[in-house]
Amino acid sequence: MNKELILDCLSRYNQHNLIKHINNLSADEQDNLMAQIADIDWSFMESLHHKDKVPGDIAPISALSIYDIKTQSDVYQSIGIDSIKKGELCLLLLAGGQGTRLGYDMPKGTFNIGTTKDLYIFQLLIEHTIDVVNLSGTWIHMYIMCSDINYNDTVTFFKEHNYFDYNPDYLHFFVQELNPATDFEGNLLLSSKDSLAMSPNGNGGWFSSLKRCGLLDQILDSNLKWINVFSVDNVLQKIADPIFLGATIESGKMCGAKVVYKANPEEKVGAICTENGKPHIIEYYELSEDMMYQANQDGTLAYGYGVILNYLFPIHRLKETLDLKMPLHVVKKAVPYINDRGELIQPTEPNAFKFETLALDLIHEMDDCLVFEIDREKEFAPVKNKSGVDSIDTARELLIKNGYTL
Ligand code: UTP
Repeated sequence: MNKELILDCLSRYNQHNLIKHINNLSADEQDNLMAQIADIDWSFMESLHHKDKVPGDIAPISALSIYDIKTQSDVYQSIGIDSIKKGELCLLLLAGGQGTRLGYDMPKGTFNIGTTKDLYIFQLLIEHTIDVVNLSGTWIHMYIMCSDINYNDTVTFFKEHNYFDYNPDYLHFFVQELNPATDFEGNLLLSSKDSLAMSPNGNGGWFSSLKRCGLLDQILDSNLKWINVFSVDNVLQKIADPIFLGATIESGKMCGAKVVYKANPEEKVGAICTENGKPHIIEYYELSEDMMYQANQDGTLAYGYGVILNYLFPIHRLKETLDLKMPLHVVKKAVPYINDRGELIQPTEPNAFKFETLALDLIHEMDDCLVFEIDREKEFAPVKNKSGVDSIDTARELLIKNGYTL
């Protein structure tokens, strides 16, 4: 694209400040910035202006309770282990986020949660997985999604720690795409004079990113049937949980979602439900007050099951969703940028919109879902914030409660 076309395009999207800025740059700087602009898929702008979609028919969904799971755990475990032994399960670790709320400028997985010894988040996740490797006698492929921003640091960290004794042949690092960030008026932000402020494009596009990075064929050519997708920040989660896998297979449902029963109606977790009979997740900020407090006859919350970002997806169905254009969610985040005077600003409060696809939208593409309840005290210790709820402190407390020495 030549300069004229790029400027036309910027003008069409009301980027008049940026046009002024470009005109003040040296020829080399202009080339750098315009090469980046030429690569932008501008469809993200539509999500800024699109009207909220009218929701369909929303209804509560039932779950396999902790009690039900306990009574059948031997059966589920044996089905799950059998499937893992046959090489049917692989793992996908979502580690491409920027963890802005934690305010730690390295990849979140490299955070040391130990107090008297080193205990890194990645180390805990790998150790949890090794438990299942030992139980099944089978190495399990783990795909680790990073972004351009944290890929090198992540890979170097794993190498330096000898992959925490995981078999490196079974660890596959890949990179997700980036989207530009804008201020609240829709103006593209700059991270330096000649580069745009770019952010990872959310945790929903991992399947198409696997394809783009050439890893999907390897998956499709194998015996793999299931993919367990999980977030980097829950340090207590069970990964490749054979009981979850066995229960999902036994249920005959298309996919599985681990959930916690909400600690209180206002807890900030996405509520799982159905929309027009299909599994659906409503983000906590989209849940109406009526639904938040709506109770079943026994007094429990009708929309009380919150997802913890640990899902089982069937690979054959994911393949069919490859051409799907995932909706982009507009999320308010703190994004560093340079101002009109060329000064780098590091905001502590959200100042920008990021455009993200979300894993929860994939659930909606499934016919049905096994909602699998877990004990939050044993399996849910997310490290999201520096302090307060879902923070380093609460995660440490829960790790200690579960017998870890920190
Ligand atoms: P979060 O929603 O907590 O986002 O991600 P975040 O970017 O990590 O953190 P904040 O909101 O800025 O504090 C949930 C999971 O999805 C992954 C994260 O790494 C985490 O495991 N994720 C998020 C990605 O892999 N890519 C993304 O673009 C965003």
